[in-house]
Amino acid sequence: MSLLLAGFSLLAAAQAAVRPVEVSGGCASLPAYDSSARIAGPWVVPVDSCVNTTATDNVCSMEGFGSEAVYFLQQGDTSVQRGYIAIVSKNDLAKSPLRCNDETNSFESYVPSGVSGAEWKSVNVTDIPYSAQLMWGLGQYSLPIQAYHHYRNGVKQDGIFLGAHNVTTWALQLQSGSAGSGGKPYWLMRLLGPNSADPVTGDALAEGEYRTFIRVDGS
Ligand SMILES: *[C@@H]1O[C@H](CO)[C@@H](O)[C@H](O)[C@H]1NC(C)=O
Ligand SMILES: *[C@@H]1O[C@H](CO)[C@@H](O)[C@H](O)[C@H]1NC(C)=O
Ligand SMILES: *[C@@H]1O[C@H](CO)[C@@H](O)[C@H](O)[C@H]1NC(C)=O
Repeated sequence: MSLLLAGFSLLAAAQAAVRPVEVSGGCASLPAYDSSARIAGPWVVPVDSCVNTTATDNVCSMEGFGSEAVYFLQQGDTSVQRGYIAIVSKNDLAKSPLRCNDETNSFESYVPSGVSGAEWKSVNVTDIPYSAQLMWGLGQYSLPIQAYHHYRNGVKQDGIFLGAHNVTTWALQLQSGSAGSGGKPYWLMRLLGPNSADPVTGDALAEGEYRTFIRVDGS
């Protein structure tokens, strides 16, 4: 095995050995905090330490790519109510930033809303363990996300990461374009939290999924 391949395999092992610890102190502990608005951000949230667990070199083509809002309409919707926070398929596409708002006690994203508008909306993960996508417009059947430090062997690592249930690993899977993504493919995110394995096959990751952290830019 070449040194390069050995290095990438260590990356996958290092990702697995991390222990997330929730950031205390609310939004004030996050980058770009404005104490008068009680808001931290906005920041892009890039893919960080992404790995392809089934490739021998673990290489993930999405490293550093940022987030975008992808809406979808349900039957009866006459305007945009909900959608996914996803990862762009090309990093020169427009991003949707996130921010932390102490007023709403949540993370929010700037997303399409109504007939042609855009506004800041709280984002949550769904409460379906094996399909815990990051979304806006969910309501009661969902859980807030949190910010976490990473510890390895008891030592705090650089960066602040998004997650829930003390888990900061996410799966990314490529989806074909839709009206809500402007026709462009995008990478759907799901949290790899408790019971997130496929309920039928028991596999931790589905075919074509990368495993990654999502970092708060500037942390
Ligand atoms: C990961 O690597 C495997 C083996 O090379 C490949 O078949 C698969 O498509 C890759 N996954 C992604 C998400 O690109
Ligand atoms: C997020 O989850 C909390 C807890 O279940 C819930 O109270 C809140 O309404 C949810 N927010 C959104 C925007 O889904
Ligand atoms: C997360 O970890 C902390 C510290 O170990 C613990 O107090 C808390 O209950 C955990 N939360 C969840 C949702 O597992």
